[in-house]
Amino acid sequence: MRVAWLLLVSLALPLAGCDDGKSPKGVGPGDDTDVAQPADDTGPSDDFHDPLSTPTEPTLDLDDFVSAEQCAECHPDHVSEWRQSVHAHAMTDPVFRALVAVRHDAFDGEQDAFCIQCHSAIGTRSHDITPGFAWEALDDRTLEGVNCEACHRIQSIVRPFNAGHELDGTGPMRGPILDPEPSAFHTTEPAEWMAGAEFCGTCHDVYEVNGLPLERPYAEWLPSPAADEGRPCQTCHMPSRTGPAATGGPDRTLHDHRFVGVDVPESLDAETRAGLRQEVDALLEGAGTVSLALADAVPAGGQLDVVVTVQNEIDAHNLPTGSSFNRQCWVEVIATDGAGRVLYETGTFDGNGDLRDHWSELDPYGDSDLLAFHGGLVDADGQPTRLTHDAIELRTRALQPLHARTWTLFVPVPADAVGPIAVTARLRFRAYGPHLFRLLGLPNPEEGLVVTDIDAVAEVVAVQ
Ligand code: HEC
Ligand code: HEC
Ligand code: HEC
Ligand code: HEC
Ligand code: HEC
Repeated sequence: MRVAWLLLVSLALPLAGCDDGKSPKGVGPGDDTDVAQPADDTGPSDDFHDPLSTPTEPTLDLDDFVSAEQCAECHPDHVSEWRQSVHAHAMTDPVFRALVAVRHDAFDGEQDAFCIQCHSAIGTRSHDITPGFAWEALDDRTLEGVNCEACHRIQSIVRPFNAGHELDGTGPMRGPILDPEPSAFHTTEPAEWMAGAEFCGTCHDVYEVNGLPLERPYAEWLPSPAADEGRPCQTCHMPSRTGPAATGGPDRTLHDHRFVGVDVPESLDAETRAGLRQEVDALLEGAGTVSLALADAVPAGGQLDVVVTVQNEIDAHNLPTGSSFNRQCWVEVIATDGAGRVLYETGTFDGNGDLRDHWSELDPYGDSDLLAFHGGLVDADGQPTRLTHDAIELRTRALQPLHARTWTLFVPVPADAVGPIAVTARLRFRAYGPHLFRLLGLPNPEEGLVVTDIDAVAEVVAVQ
């Protein structure tokens, strides 16, 4: 891992054409929303420990918790859905492990618990995670990541960020059913707040040790139309159906435990992955639109103005949201004349399959018009970095809920251009760009690089 780390820090590239320096409200650094900020004890200090989520002494007994296996007897559907979710892969994802190893080297193991406080709150608080821990030595319950009890033994919400909840290994199982049947395995306590967005916010809003906000879907949701109308995260990420909540029990409103987002776990079998990919595509296809405004005709030897508008169709959070600094969301525009000659392109890949931005090895900064919405981390020297602990700023052009933005691209039309000119625009998304895997020394994944077209349009312009 040390090699990869050196490679990462040695990447000092000037930051250009990346951002206008203005961050949209609610997503940028130094932005004050009415959301509670991290307490002083999560601020920069040589002691990064947070008494709730990364305690110096164990606050839980691992043996009070059980594996998801044990729930399958009575909740088989919940367990099989959860196994397909990224929650079940939060501790085994190779990108996660590689980045944790980089941080381990950077802090000599001292901050090993930081990255794990949400990915396995049970392992962190029980001190199965210790400085310099070995993945092979971890308990299965820790390796299960965000397992059933990591959510259903949450006792109360303390703050909507950085694993801001209390866990209670000896307490009842908490859930949304207000009149649960008795269970032979556990006591039960109805918890209405489980159906609310703040519950998700306890892990989904992420602040670095220095206070830099990294991920804020909950903070974005708070002032959104979806929040006004009472539609929390569960509405879209846990769609409901009717059926028994436990084998032999009465019909209930059930909630999908695959937690579909943008990732498809690599380690699942091909058929399961194909099913999940369809769900991810369906979610993404409703996420945004791209449209073009063009003249009917352009003179040969002149210039074609291509007016591109992109709209976030999600009324609940930004496009993209979450770990937007790892994601890629951008617009591809290609103009081709009647002879098939490419007159203009932006948002296309270099020979490695990377966008031609500052991370491109083959054509760095080769795409000065690139319309990208994902975030970029910037270090104290103003250089792009992939490492959150080196970052002092997160620059982003993410679109706020239902917001649209318009750009004009200038396409030179050669004197010998053959009409008509075809212009295509695609709003594209993928979980990762290949450069991240190169930098981390990992093989290219199958699912992680799959591109989804959120929306696409095509227009034709005559040449006079
Ligand atoms: C105990 C912490 C925790 C809680 C509570 C939690 N999550 Fe997560 N969630 C995670 C972690 C960690 C990941 C990332 C796992 C990975 O990819 O390694 C994740 C990933 C996801 C993803 C997948 C994103 C993608 O990349 O595709 C979705 C969707 C999601 N969570 C939705 C929810 C919703 C909705 C709630 C509330 C009902 C919720 N989560 C509550 C920790 C949590
Ligand atoms: C406050 C809780 C929390 C902390 C702390 C946290 N994560 Fe996560 N992590 C999440 C959630 C929630 C997601 C899902 C976000 C998404 O997919 O947009 C996630 C997703 C991920 C993913 C998979 C998606 C991606 O962006 O590649 C990786 C890798 C990851 N985290 C690495 C880390 C590392 C490395 C650290 C420490 C620097 C860390 N996490 C600290 C909650 C957390
Ligand atoms: C021996 C059978 C059995 C086992 C094993 C079992 N449960 Fe249950 N569970 C039930 C029954 C019965 C209900 C009530 C269902 C109903 O009322 O519709 C229930 C309800 C629940 C609820 C809903 C509570 C509410 O009020 O909303 C949750 C959450 C839950 N169980 C989680 C778990 C988890 C997590 C495990 C594994 C650690 C587990 N259960 C193991 C039988 C079981
Ligand atoms: C109206 C439906 C809707 C609601 C409500 C909603 N989301 Fe999403 N979510 C989406 C769509 C569509 C995407 C895919 C586009 C994107 O990444 O922004 C998504 C993506 C995500 C991702 C993956 C982001 C990434 O690229 O890594 C996470 C994490 C997430 N949502 C968490 C949440 C949380 C937490 C809430 C509640 C605070 C929430 N969502 C509420 C529709 C919704
Ligand atoms: C990331 C957090 C999270 C994880 C992990 C999780 N659940 Fe849930 N579960 C929820 C939420 C949130 C609800 C209620 C959603 C709502 O009412 O809007 C719920 C609801 C339930 C219910 C009530 C019936 C229903 O579908 O609403 C049962 C039973 C249940 N979960 C069992 C399980 C079991 C078993 C596991 C592990 C295989 C598990 N859950 C993992 C968050 C989680």
